[in-house]
Amino acid sequence: MVKARAPATTANLGPGFDTLGMALNLYLQVEVELLGSGIEIVFSGVRDRSIMESPQENLIYKAMNFVFKQALYRPTGLYIEIDNDIPIGKGLGSSAAAIVAGMFTANRLIGDCFSPEELLRWAVTMEGHADNIVPCTTGGLTVAMVCQGEVFYQQVKPGKELQVVVAVPEFILSTERSRSVLPAQIALPAVISNLQQACFLLASLQNGDFTHINKAMQDMIYQPLRKQFIPGFQQVLQSALEAGALGAALSGAGPSIMAFTTSGQETVVGQAMEEAFDGAGVKVQVLYLKPDMQGVHYY
Ligand code: HSE
Repeated sequence: MVKARAPATTANLGPGFDTLGMALNLYLQVEVELLGSGIEIVFSGVRDRSIMESPQENLIYKAMNFVFKQALYRPTGLYIEIDNDIPIGKGLGSSAAAIVAGMFTANRLIGDCFSPEELLRWAVTMEGHADNIVPCTTGGLTVAMVCQGEVFYQQVKPGKELQVVVAVPEFILSTERSRSVLPAQIALPAVISNLQQACFLLASLQNGDFTHINKAMQDMIYQPLRKQFIPGFQQVLQSALEAGALGAALSGAGPSIMAFTTSGQETVVGQAMEEAFDGAGVKVQVLYLKPDMQGVHYY
């Protein structure tokens, strides 16, 4: 039996579109065993029937098969047990966790034929973006860079006092839909603002200097366009900041909104975000999380 645990992730962090990401202490656990024949998938926790119940549609199984194919290996049969705490289709990297957990369990099952770097590269190919896959694999706060088709990354360890509050709306927003409103080109002033803010944010988090994170987490590129999908978006950001959040932004492609706080402030910020969403007619689940420093691992 091979068991792997992959964390949820929050991508973009405001200005770092398709670049910055952070692993969170909320997990997808996958246990896999070889069978003589057949495919058996057993679930517990958060699930989406349409994408999980048939093996052909199950992303974990697809990711496992990707690795098996690279090794020219055909399992006789598989037993896959999935225990998932990551909300699906909410901008918390559920598909990245499924792909990473699938690839890492498959690789262990065939005797670690491939390196973690190879798995990471394939996972990015399968997911389409690196900003969730990288922190899911490595843990921590990461910068992903895709250069001439190759994935490069740096990991930064955020300060231990950093807390992450996430308000998760009850509705789903697909990454595809959320990206459909983005233009092919961006005006230079917006690009310059985002570059300045992304670099400033990264340096602030690395130095543990949270003084101007609220300004650094602003974004001129995608949030102004995506907020049409999220009732109350502006009020939720505003309420989080007024309640003492260090900064707040759309989590990945949304619809969840995340806020950074220091220890002790998280409940007040979470309640403020919930009330603001409620005022816009959106019910949310509020998650109180911390950065995960480990990334995917066997247990
Ligand atoms: N950066 C992506 C987006 C998130 O905002 O569309 C998923 O990788």
